[in-house]
Amino acid sequence: MLVLGIETSCDETSAAVLADGRRVLSNVVASQADLHARWGGVVPEMASRKHVERVLPVIWQAMDEAGCSLNGIGGIAVTNRPGLIGALLVGVSAAKALGYALRRPTVGVHHLEGHLAALRLACPDAPYPMACLLASGGHTELLYVTSDGAPRSLGRTRDDAAGECFDKCARLLDLPYPGGPHIERLAREGDPRAVAFPRARMENPAEFSFSGLKTAVARFVAADGGATAVADVAASLQEAIVDVLVSRTVTAALSWGCRAVAITGGVAANRALAARLHAAAEAAGLTCATPPVALCTDNAAMVAAAGWKRLSAGDDDMPYLDAFASEAFATAVA
Ligand code: KG4
Ligand code: ZN
Repeated sequence: MLVLGIETSCDETSAAVLADGRRVLSNVVASQADLHARWGGVVPEMASRKHVERVLPVIWQAMDEAGCSLNGIGGIAVTNRPGLIGALLVGVSAAKALGYALRRPTVGVHHLEGHLAALRLACPDAPYPMACLLASGGHTELLYVTSDGAPRSLGRTRDDAAGECFDKCARLLDLPYPGGPHIERLAREGDPRAVAFPRARMENPAEFSFSGLKTAVARFVAADGGATAVADVAASLQEAIVDVLVSRTVTAALSWGCRAVAITGGVAANRALAARLHAAAEAAGLTCATPPVALCTDNAAMVAAAGWKRLSAGDDDMPYLDAFASEAFATAVA
């Protein structure tokens, strides 16, 4: 079955065609990063309007690149929660219109379920159970993932997400939005030991806290007055984030008897993080699964992959499919 995936939860308009739940025939992503850069973050109303302009051209391009017609589509999967409500509604409305017109089943997908599906899509042979770090702009959580059951939460951030910390610190360093890729680029030239930024210790080693690090960077930048090279600050900041993410993911895997560690979500696009996790996993005798960059940041192939299972089981959310700004994801392990 061919599944059309649609993703518009934040500032990426994306459409993809997936065959048999595992072959990505196309995965078109139109980023709005340039549009929001001057505001230092996503402006929800502007994001919705841009999605309205782009959603159909992006879908047509995905069909073109996959070499298939709308009639060949067996089902539609769309991110319907959580996210910016106006942005979500654009994708959901497009999916419902196509679902009605083509008389095809159409299902809503939780955005984080999509990020987990990206991992399964990219690393189908990774062994379970695994400790998976899901780190994006709005979310940082360690999950206990099995081959079939629902993911269980081992711990999440108490305050800022790792991506948010990258973005806000990048702003303090006068770098454009989104800051993560800029920090990574600069960090390649910098000394990660130049500035000793703090790592928050937590009672539950599967939890995180990044607000103190953000404050430490703000204080450092104000006191330093530009004396330290930006590349050194970026490298030290990245080191502080990567250090905590990698060590807690490996610790969680070992204490929960996992066979593998994994990362997914926008922050997983950071190749320094992926390389460090691979090295730490190898030292601990664990398999390591890290998706390629294109499947880490928001994209519709992951949404199609998440929806595929339900669609192939005959599920259909029509006609009541709706969008929701927030919804919990994994339940906590007792
Ligand atoms: O998953 P995603 O694309 O959107 C959300 O669901 O939030 O994640 C976006 C986040 C942003 O905070 C962005 O700065 C971060 O992922 N990010 C990175 C990198 N690429 C994207 N963070 C660090 N290094 C990167 N290379
Ligand atoms: Zn995301």
